[in-house]
Amino acid sequence: MSITHKYSYILGIESSCDDTSASIIRNTEMLSNVTAGQAVHEKYGGVVPELASRAHQQNIIPVVDAAIEEAGINKKDIDAVAFTRGPGLLGSLLVGTSFAKSFAMGLNVPLVEVNHMKGHILAHFLQKQGETKEVPQFPFICLTVSGGHTQIVLVKDYLEMEVIGETMDDAAGEAFDKAAKVLGLPYPGGPLIDKHAQLGNPNAFSFTFPKTEGYTYSFSGLKTQFMNFVRNNEQKNNGFIQEHLNDICAAYQSHIISYLFKKLIPAVELYGVTDVAIAGGVSANSELRNRLKMVGIEKGWNVFIPEFQFCTDNAAMIAITGYYKYLNKDFSDQTVTPLARLKI
Ligand code: KG4
Ligand code: ZN
Repeated sequence: MSITHKYSYILGIESSCDDTSASIIRNTEMLSNVTAGQAVHEKYGGVVPELASRAHQQNIIPVVDAAIEEAGINKKDIDAVAFTRGPGLLGSLLVGTSFAKSFAMGLNVPLVEVNHMKGHILAHFLQKQGETKEVPQFPFICLTVSGGHTQIVLVKDYLEMEVIGETMDDAAGEAFDKAAKVLGLPYPGGPLIDKHAQLGNPNAFSFTFPKTEGYTYSFSGLKTQFMNFVRNNEQKNNGFIQEHLNDICAAYQSHIISYLFKKLIPAVELYGVTDVAIAGGVSANSELRNRLKMVGIEKGWNVFIPEFQFCTDNAAMIAITGYYKYLNKDFSDQTVTPLARLKI
């Protein structure tokens, strides 16, 4: 590992789902992180892949320009271009990948491919300008919960990770989003369920845990259980959702979070680690954050909870992962193509 000068400037590009994001970091320090969301999907109750790739095409140049300007650097200062190769929506990934390839070629700097899920985890190592925050010590366990993934990951080093448990079907974020759709809430429903849950009683209704072995999760049965629960109650009282929205959200959210801990706690105990992190969009959930703090105190864990801006998809997490790969000279060539499925 050799760096020729003190600072390395990395441009990160993220386009795996419905957020177009670009970030500039200087070593581990974030100088900018600009994200354009896509409101176009709200009315469809989920991301429409074709609309997402078109919006990425419109957004990518202004977003990258804004990230460079906000960082106060010149294009020529950039030492490497890191981009999300996968997992994600193929058409969306293609926009970021093609842009990163041509930008790196134009600047004559290395191109670095990044695994989006590793990015969510390594976001814990980002520092904000003028701040020094405590970071997890290796090995640690990270519960990575997003709209596409639910994984318990043993993080042995920056780039050495092992998935020790994951979902066999839907992700935790989907369990939130699909339930929100049943309740008539717009996409993405996770933040809205969280908001209503804060005003409700988590014990008002109860659900059962899916039966899965070891550290494996399953959220598709939970979603069906929820749909049946709502439909049965609506048949008896067609104002059920409206009258009980807060309690329904509180009970369902609490159940999902309990299920996440049901697997996470024994995994942490088995591997004997003391540093425990959460990452991914669902790590923005207020109950998950609060319960992790409480469990941490009870179990003597050091817990790491990302700032909100680093929970959902962002390019700073791609840039930092790219930075560690850059130090290892782990570069991609111009023949690299995006992959919708990509393991950690
Ligand atoms: O990581 P992310 O931005 O995109 C993927 O890589 O999937 O995660 C998006 C997911 C969505 O399912 C969204 O509903 C969920 O994160 N989410 C939340 C909250 N904020 C975002 N779920 C529950 N509570 C929240 N506060
Ligand atoms: Zn994500």
